[in-house]
Amino acid sequence: MTIDTKYLINWVGGKRLLRKTIEPLIPKDMVSYLEVFGGGGYILFYKDKWADLEVYNDLDGRLVNLFRIVKFHPNALKEELNYLLGSREMFVQFMKTEGITDIQKAVRFLYLITRSFGGRGETFGCTKKSCGGASKSQGNILFRIDAIHKRLDKVLIENKDFEAFIKQYDHEDAFFYCDPPYSCGAGYAVTSTKAFDHERLRATLGEIKGRFLLSYDDAPKIRELYNGYEMIAVERLNGINNKLGDDRKNKMFKEILIANYPIMEKFYAGTDRNKD
Ligand SMILES: C[S@@+](CC[C@H](N)C(=O)[O-])C[C@H]1O[C@@H](n2cnc3c(N)ncnc32)[C@H](O)[C@@H]1O
Repeated sequence: MTIDTKYLINWVGGKRLLRKTIEPLIPKDMVSYLEVFGGGGYILFYKDKWADLEVYNDLDGRLVNLFRIVKFHPNALKEELNYLLGSREMFVQFMKTEGITDIQKAVRFLYLITRSFGGRGETFGCTKKSCGGASKSQGNILFRIDAIHKRLDKVLIENKDFEAFIKQYDHEDAFFYCDPPYSCGAGYAVTSTKAFDHERLRATLGEIKGRFLLSYDDAPKIRELYNGYEMIAVERLNGINNKLGDDRKNKMFKEILIANYPIMEKFYAGTDRNKD
């Protein structure tokens, strides 16, 4: 079995299952690729290079610290992780402590995210009948650290609120991939679903010189906010129930892709390829 080295962690709302759909819609003639809500970086890491300038951004300092450590201190990270196999006691211990150095903080965060259910870092990933990360291969995690370390070689890592980030990097040949918190859902450590300002994002994107592609939950409020832009409705398997049995309807999640440049033609030309 080949290991998917194009990601490091599972992240809530991560676009692993939409990578094939989104990739062809991203312009190839951009000068800078800017990932505004980086999360697990599934789209950034999907290709070896998108543009000469590539920037990962997220407001969550734990993610930013993790990717900076993977970029600058991969061996120290691997050394600390080496013997930390899935163990309930260790998980509980890590829940109680923060870590002192940035490397320790990265180890703790990576351990909790990897060994929990759904990448939430909250409950040990093991029940009587299923395993959500508790017994994941440690070898694969170390292997992925090496791959992502290489991928991050020329990637800048920022820790800004989206508005400041977009304003800082905007120009005519810039491309922003935006995957904000959904308008409904559980939210994130840095912003609860209620607190995230979707109108502010809409206003910021409405003023840019560059191009953007947005992925959202397909909700009437979002369709209304972006009325006039090209939109494509897509479905993906719900991350938690991600095995499709006979209950297809309840296991699919409706998303929408929105852009300020033409995407519909490219999408419909590639619908066969989009079957995941
Ligand atoms: C849907 S997730 C991104 C998932 C990512 N595209 C992936 O594939 O893994 C949304 C991210 O937005 C971040 N976020 C929330 N509020 C933010 C803000 N005001 N500015 C920048 N990032 C923010 C969260 O920390 C979270 O990682």
